[in-house]
Amino acid sequence: MAQSETLNKIPTGIPGLDELLSGGVPEGSQMLLVGEPGVGKTLLSFEVAYNSAKEGRPSLFMTMDQSKNSLLKNINSAFPGFDGMKDLIDKNSFNVAERAMDMEFKSRENLVIFVAEIMRLIKSNNAKLLVMDSISLLRSLVDDDRTYTRALNFLVETFRNLGVTSIINIESRNPTKTDLPGLYEESMFDGIVLLTKYRKSEESQFLNASISKLRYSKYRNSPITLEITPNGIMLKKSN
Ligand SMILES: Nc1ncnc2c1ncn2[C@@H]1O[C@H](COP(=O)(O)OP(=O)(O)OP(=O)(O)O)[C@@H](O)[C@H]1O
Ligand SMILES: [Mg+2]
Repeated sequence: MAQSETLNKIPTGIPGLDELLSGGVPEGSQMLLVGEPGVGKTLLSFEVAYNSAKEGRPSLFMTMDQSKNSLLKNINSAFPGFDGMKDLIDKNSFNVAERAMDMEFKSRENLVIFVAEIMRLIKSNNAKLLVMDSISLLRSLVDDDRTYTRALNFLVETFRNLGVTSIINIESRNPTKTDLPGLYEESMFDGIVLLTKYRKSEESQFLNASISKLRYSKYRNSPITLEITPNGIMLKKSN
């Protein structure tokens, strides 16, 4: 039997995206979500983590760029239709955590402390899905490209060894060319999802999503257009 038929998938719960991914993210995969500034990386990945917890698969959303409070405030305003979110968070099946803001990654020791904290959080609710939003700041917390690449590789390989499925967000001004800050991101990750802005409407917020790579599974090449609505991210009607 082909591997794609045996591998379990974690559905994103986002209509259209799951079809692109042939059912969802392959379990245990390390995914990179690349998108332009303001395109929807935080909202989309938050929704995937929320949906996972809602379906009984505990998740951890690690906010790296903003505090947990400001994140949740914005999510509540962007997605007022997310019923039961507070309950999932209270029960810890959906764990929203923030990085210690004084954290640096200049030495291996700092990185190990950070990874140990993530491992502790993963164990605390037996998280099956981890989102890191985002690692863009990581480059500014280390001195050079080599240290950045090694740090990222250490993170990704730790998550892989833990068996956790992860989605790591990164900002890129030109995601169609996968213009990434490091040297080897494309080979480090099992799958890459690209988000680009779709500038057609002023009153609604749309974005294009496409898959540039996905190991262990079939996937669709053609991009889809998604819409950010108060009830979550939806497939644009005229798709
Ligand atoms: N509270 C909100 N109410 C209405 N629309 C919102 C709200 N929050 C975000 N949006 C819309 O959704 C878009 C995507 O926001 P999101 O924060 O997910 O983008 P991002 O790619 O994570 O951005 P950044 O590069 O700043 O991290 C925003 O550009 C904005 O138009
Ligand atoms: Mg963001």
